[in-house]
Amino acid sequence: MLPDQTAQRRNGWQGTAPAPVGLDNFMLTPSISAYNAHIEHIPQGREIMSAAASVARTAPLYQRVSRVIPPIEWPVFADDIEAILELKRRRNAVILGHNYMTPEIFHCVADITGDSLALAREAMKVDADVIVLAGVHFMAETAKLLNPTKTVLIPDTRAGCSLAASITAADVRLMRQRYPGAPVVTYVNSSAEVKAESDICCTSANAKKIVESLGTPEVIMLPDEYLAKNVAAQTSVKIIAWAGHCEVHERFTGAEVRALRRDYPGVTILAHPECPPEVIAEADYTGSTADMSGFVAREQPGRVVLLTECSMADNVAVNHPQVDFVRPCNLCPHMKRITLGNIRLALEEMKHEVTIDPAVAMRARRAVERMLEVK
Ligand code: 13P
Ligand code: SF4
Repeated sequence: MLPDQTAQRRNGWQGTAPAPVGLDNFMLTPSISAYNAHIEHIPQGREIMSAAASVARTAPLYQRVSRVIPPIEWPVFADDIEAILELKRRRNAVILGHNYMTPEIFHCVADITGDSLALAREAMKVDADVIVLAGVHFMAETAKLLNPTKTVLIPDTRAGCSLAASITAADVRLMRQRYPGAPVVTYVNSSAEVKAESDICCTSANAKKIVESLGTPEVIMLPDEYLAKNVAAQTSVKIIAWAGHCEVHERFTGAEVRALRRDYPGVTILAHPECPPEVIAEADYTGSTADMSGFVAREQPGRVVLLTECSMADNVAVNHPQVDFVRPCNLCPHMKRITLGNIRLALEEMKHEVTIDPAVAMRARRAVERMLEVK
């Protein structure tokens, strides 16, 4: 969590530009991309005029995110946003944005947004020549698996995932030797090589359904121990887990949930299933990022907390001004590698292209497609 900003955000600035007097009134998003933007020189004369023109032209886009991005930050984004919109047209490209992207990416340049399952389904349907994956590497690989003739770009190759890094293809083969006959259900937060060793994939949105679809008394479920335990609590299928963890969600604790209930009476607590079981046991609702977003839209809780990555609450808050978001979030350093600046560069220089060894891709695709076939 970014320490000083939670209090500012709780003050819940509800306005649009210009800012109310005094920064105390802001619901100040960290605007992490603004921290990442490299301001290499102080703009002068003509540049200032051009930046001002860019800000004016993008004013309608700013209105979308004005609840969560202070107007003082918008000039840092406006020029990149305009350039990206133009590059998308020129390259015949679409941007798929995960729910954890910062709001200026999520609401202003992404064409399709959602959780891992939605992005996989949508990637398959993309007709454009180029897919830019504003998310982490395994999501870009999944898009490439499902739409192999398209050029898939990831703006920063370092955008990994602690879960994907926790297991190798050789580990999966060892698990199969140790538990012969048990099918392998692999969370999409994994490399193509690991998917290739698996029978079927799952996401946080369909894990229980996928496990039960196999009709076996036991399954091996990789690599997220907590997702596996959280599914095990809801099914009679015996689950053999791997000890991988999401470095973002594993930090939430049951004590934190109790403190939230004490400090914010009546708050509704939603948690992602990558959180430890003690957190899930104390939460009011558990679901994928899209499920959490759907819950807020449907139930309109007066006050809510999303126990997940920081940008999620910003992105949902944009569409629900009447809901009070309490924000004890944790940042995903991998998701935060994606910025407007490197999305722009990706489209300018057509980098970094995601490629997968064809033999691996064939087997990995089968595991992802099997998941998508489960109704
Ligand atoms: P979702 O599929 O729920 O969006 O989760 C992806 C992820 O990486 C969560 O940490
Ligand atoms: Fe991986 Fe966790 Fe980041 Fe999601 S939030 S990409 S699971 S490290």
